[in-house]
Amino acid sequence: MKIGNKHYQTIWIDESDPSVIKVIDQQKLPFFLEIAELRSVEDVYNAIDSMTVRGAPLIGAAAAFGIYLAALEITVNTNPISHLHNAARYLVSCRPTAVNLAWAVDFVMKKLNEGMSAEELAENSLKAALEICDLEKENCRLIGINGLPLIEEISRKKNGDSVNILTHCNAGWLACIDYGTATAPLYLAHDKGIKLHVWVDETRPRNQGARLTAYELGQHGVPYTIIPDNSGGHLMQHGMVDIVIVGSDRTTRKGDSANKTGTYLKALAAHDNNIPFYSAVPSTSIDFSINDGISEVKIEERDPEEVLKTEGLLHGRIEQVRLCPEDARAANYGFDITPARLITGIITEKGICNATEVSIKEMFPDKFN
Ligand code: MRU
Repeated sequence: MKIGNKHYQTIWIDESDPSVIKVIDQQKLPFFLEIAELRSVEDVYNAIDSMTVRGAPLIGAAAAFGIYLAALEITVNTNPISHLHNAARYLVSCRPTAVNLAWAVDFVMKKLNEGMSAEELAENSLKAALEICDLEKENCRLIGINGLPLIEEISRKKNGDSVNILTHCNAGWLACIDYGTATAPLYLAHDKGIKLHVWVDETRPRNQGARLTAYELGQHGVPYTIIPDNSGGHLMQHGMVDIVIVGSDRTTRKGDSANKTGTYLKALAAHDNNIPFYSAVPSTSIDFSINDGISEVKIEERDPEEVLKTEGLLHGRIEQVRLCPEDARAANYGFDITPARLITGIITEKGICNATEVSIKEMFPDKFN
């Protein structure tokens, strides 16, 4: 993805000092483009916790690099493998909803064993983390290719008039390593000259839509309009939304999908207005071990202060202001579950499937053993 004229990924290794992992600091966007440096497991944990890095595929990749940084911390006085197991548990405990976090840590840990020297543990964990980055990038690229025909078809039906796509939160390249999940088909369509326009849900309380999706789309030259989270239903009732495409943090084997809080309400409104609702999901975000989203996915509860305050640019600095009475209480559930029955289809790296166990199994037979 380009920012200005420069190609970026959201995470990479510092070539001049391979003990440093660099990330785009998403707490500063869209106001400042700053690169943060991660030098320890603690740094990685804090970056995920503070949402310096966020989005399901990216937190997985960051945690994978966290294991590598933990391997670099091994000294003669540490038991190497138990040190790495502790680091793995610590990183996985950071955010509960996105399955990519546990998946990525597990992927790296499976490549390591007791017989390896500290150097081999570092080398193998780095290799595995880089493999995850490549895999997530490729998954997103393929989701773009597989989702593109949906937009092309609407464009054809509208005789080339602008296709109006609604999205929630940021399931763009910032949330991934590159391309994005929900955004990948949009970027491809735009690059092919298809006229489109994106309704960007602001996505309270942290405003990942207004801050991050708007930033990305703007950098790519895709026309967009930010809307309050509650406007989608109105737009749908007035024929102003052709399709909804969102990401997912954890999709179950039968297709229930956890995504940023508010996604479910968009799916209900889309269903009521007969508007296709697609979830763009790499297989790394599918938890093949669970069925029922509502009872089996742990929904992250975040600091209520995120609801009580908002953040923006004031006199050249990022500042927070309080929105509520001093003694107000707030609840902050970070995600919700969209039941499979409200999802028209799941766009994966292998193609589009129905949000049913049968269809997901057909697409990923080897995951259903
Ligand atoms: O809390 P966040 O910002 O990490 O939540 C991100 C989302 O909900 C995205 O939609 C999801 O991770 C899918 S991203 C490809």
